[in-house]
Amino acid sequence: MKNPILALEEINIEVRNRSILKIANFELQAGELLGVMGPNGAGKSTLLKTLALLELPTKGIIKFQNKPINANSALEVRRKFAVALQQSLLLDMSVYQNVALGLKIRNRSRREIKEKVSYWLEVFKISHLAKKHAYHLSGGEAQRVNLARAMILQPEILFLDEPFSALDFPTKVQLLKDIKNVVEQTSTTTVFISHDLMEIKYFTNTLAILIDGEIKQYGPTDEVLSFPNRSSATFIGEWNQLLS
Ligand SMILES: Nc1ncnc2c1ncn2[C@@H]1O[C@H](COP(=O)(O)OP(=O)(O)O)[C@@H](O)[C@H]1O
Ligand SMILES: [Mg+2]
Repeated sequence: MKNPILALEEINIEVRNRSILKIANFELQAGELLGVMGPNGAGKSTLLKTLALLELPTKGIIKFQNKPINANSALEVRRKFAVALQQSLLLDMSVYQNVALGLKIRNRSRREIKEKVSYWLEVFKISHLAKKHAYHLSGGEAQRVNLARAMILQPEILFLDEPFSALDFPTKVQLLKDIKNVVEQTSTTTVFISHDLMEIKYFTNTLAILIDGEIKQYGPTDEVLSFPNRSSATFIGEWNQLLS
């Protein structure tokens, strides 16, 4: 049954009179693990920023739980989301403090913060790093802290923009398994941007192919990959050729 948590209608984002994102209609369903794949410069990050309300489009409507968002309600809705990017952008403080920060800003009690930080450090297998300074972490450790910092907010939607692109293969595989477990166990609606077919196949249930700022194909991940339409065939075909 359909239960859209976010919807885009007639979105058009232009930069210097060039359209970089054009979406007539797109719905993200509650509980969906959506993958977004496409070539460099296709507009993937722009789409993520639009869905996550980090940038409000000048043209079109975004709805959260069927209610249109305006400049006034955007901030309140944005607080229900969490975003993790390729660069973890940790602050100049300990791992513990980085993970605690979101709750501190929300004025949660010291006890709640302590309990939740311990819990999420444990989930992401970084309890032993609690006192370590964020700048002294490996890439994989930093990304674990980044994800703990996002999940501790219990977001309604988790947005991931190529979070594993800079990691070596074994680190990436382990982290993919862990984050997939977490989002499944918490039933967190997730938007996952990647240019890596392996990540997409493993992590997502649905897949949108974005090319030239437009969603050329959308559906269950295995269907889109097995039966690319004319518009996405070249892009997906190159991947299939490489892996066959
Ligand atoms: N603020 C901006 N100013 C100018 N051009 C931009 C801006 N943001 C994105 N673009 C352009 O829009 C297109 C899509 O960018 P982006 O969403 O980052 O693509 P992707 O994440 O798929 O690589 C690119 O051609 C990029 O150069
Ligand atoms: Mg990008």
